[in-house]
Amino acid sequence: MSQRIFIVTGAKGGVGATTIAIKLVARLPAPAERMIVDADLTGKRSLAVWYDLSDDLDRARSIGTATVARAPDGTLVMELARTYEDGLTQTAASVTRALAGLSEHAVIVVDAPQPFAAIVRPFVSRATKFIAITEPSPMGVAGAQALLAAMDRAGIPPSRIALAITDINAKGSAVSRADIERELKMPVSVELPIERDRRFEGLFDGLVTMLVAEPGSLGDSGELAEKPAFDRRVDLGEVFS
Ligand SMILES: Nc1ncnc2c1ncn2[C@@H]1O[C@H](COP(=O)(O)OP(=O)(O)OP(=O)(O)O)[C@@H](O)[C@H]1O
Ligand SMILES: [Mg+2]
Repeated sequence: MSQRIFIVTGAKGGVGATTIAIKLVARLPAPAERMIVDADLTGKRSLAVWYDLSDDLDRARSIGTATVARAPDGTLVMELARTYEDGLTQTAASVTRALAGLSEHAVIVVDAPQPFAAIVRPFVSRATKFIAITEPSPMGVAGAQALLAAMDRAGIPPSRIALAITDINAKGSAVSRADIERELKMPVSVELPIERDRRFEGLFDGLVTMLVAEPGSLGDSGELAEKPAFDRRVDLGEVFS
C-alpha cells in the first residue's frame, strides 16, 4: 500500500504540534484523499473543534471504533478518542479497517502526542516520516531525548525523523540550536517561527517542501523499508500484540 503517513509528535506539550498537523495536511500534495487523524488520546477533541465536526463525528461513533467525518474542504478527519476513557476501549483493529477503506494514494497526517499507544501502531508501523517538534528549553530537550530514544528502540531510522524546533512559548532560545543538535545527536531539520512572525507562512512552506523533497518521504511507498523492529532491546512487540 502506498498511503503516505506523516506522524506529528510534540516532544513536549504545547509546542504547536496540533497546529502543525493541521497546516501540513492542507499543504502536502495529495494525489487522492487527504486525512488528518486526531490521535491525541486525552479526548481534547482539538480537531473536531477546529474542523467543526463534533456532531458529525458523534453520529459516526460506535463503541470501539475510530470515527471519520469529512470537513467542508474535503479533508477527512479521523478521531480516535472522544473521551479520556475511549483510550481504554478503542482498538487498533478499528483503525486498520478504516485505513483499508481509504484510497491507497491517500496522504495521512497523524497528530499523535502518544505515538506508542497500541491504537496508534497501525500508523506508526507504516509511517513515511515522523515529525518531532520541541522547544529550545531544557524541558524541550529532555522531552525530545525521551522521544528519540523510544524511536530508536522501536527501530525507526533517523532518516525517517525530522526534528523541528519552535519557540512559541517564548523561551528565547534558552538552549541554542547547536546545543540541541549536540544533545540529541541529530540535526534540526527546521526551525518553525512563531505565528505572529510575518515569515510564518513562507517558512512553513519550507518545511513542506523539505518533506516532499526528501527521498523516502513522498517518493516511495509508505511502508517502512526497514520495518520498525518493535522487539529491539525492549520487547515492544509483545506490548503491542
Ligand atoms: N507557530 C505558532 N506560533 C504562535 N502560536 C502558536 C503556534 N502554533 C501553535 N500556537 C498556539 O499555541 C497553543 C498550543 O498549540 P497546539 O495546540 O497546536 O500545541 P500542541 O503541541 O498540539 O499542544 P498539546 O501538547 O496540548 O497537544 C495554541 O494556543 C496555538 O494557537
Ligand atoms: Mg496537540
